[in-house]
Amino acid sequence: LFDLNPYLAQKQALINGFLLNALQSEPADSRIVQAMTYSLMAGGKRLRPVLCLAASEAVGGSAESLLGVAAAIEMIHTYSLIHDDLPAMDDDRLRRGKPTCHVQFDEATAILAGDALVTLAFQMLSIVTGQTPPQRQLEVIRIVSQAAGYQGMIGGQMMDMESEGKPLTLEELKRLQAMKTGALIEASTRTGAILGGGTPDQIQRLEVYARNIGLAFQVRDDILNIEGDPEIMGKATGTDGDRKKSTFPSRIGLNESKTYAENLVHDALHALEVFDNKADPLRGIAHYIIDRKK
Ligand code: IPE
Ligand code: IPE
Ligand code: MG
Ligand code: MG
Repeated sequence: LFDLNPYLAQKQALINGFLLNALQSEPADSRIVQAMTYSLMAGGKRLRPVLCLAASEAVGGSAESLLGVAAAIEMIHTYSLIHDDLPAMDDDRLRRGKPTCHVQFDEATAILAGDALVTLAFQMLSIVTGQTPPQRQLEVIRIVSQAAGYQGMIGGQMMDMESEGKPLTLEELKRLQAMKTGALIEASTRTGAILGGGTPDQIQRLEVYARNIGLAFQVRDDILNIEGDPEIMGKATGTDGDRKKSTFPSRIGLNESKTYAENLVHDALHALEVFDNKADPLRGIAHYIIDRKK
């Protein structure tokens, strides 16, 4: 049976090493680099970059050659968290077990650290390594920018802000979450599958997988916001209720949300059926997403 933990640990170490190196080449003593490094290295799960590497491996590609893309996606994710925590947005004080960027530094620095991470991400995506045909690299940049922007994550964040105190229908909520959280998770998997040299059929199946686990991931995030342990999670709980957010538990109930997440993971695993054991990490990640405590 496949053991996900050593796989995750090995990939996280690769990603962390790459990220640290990418930031060290900047003037490391500047306040902006300190704030970027603080949030980036605060101890995230690295789910999105791991998905990118695992999707490449599932189609027979390598992981190492994708580290730049994987790291860029983690930078975009970290920027989104720094801004998500700002007083004008969710106003959170704890993230990844540490004071949020604006609490540790100050609001202006946190805004700039987020801006600097997202721009650095696209700089990294555009670095030519010689391993990837330019056409494919441009496609990756397009996929990631679309997923991160108003048609994806930012669009979802806007809907999330607008919906505070205004209950959404289940369909609206699914759309919000698919954009807010799903888009970047899908882009991670898709870029991995493309760069790994997947066939159109493999890429399409991995998209179905990613869409389902992306939604399951956010359903689990909503559940943990109610019944998770803030010590383990490294962020506060009960905040969605306080801010009158539309979430799956608030819309369909806690137990129904759990069943719903399980069904999504079931569908994700179904999409992987034609893959061999090189897709075992992706299978493990699907289970992990609804079992996770942080
Ligand atoms: C948290 O993402 C924000 C959501 C999109 C739900 P993660 O749970 O992946 O956070 P880190 O990266 O591990 O801190
Ligand atoms: C954060 O979503 C999602 C993004 C930053 C795109 P939430 O606000 O629901 O997540 P947490 O609970 O702060 O991690
Ligand atoms: Mg938010
Ligand atoms: Mg938040």
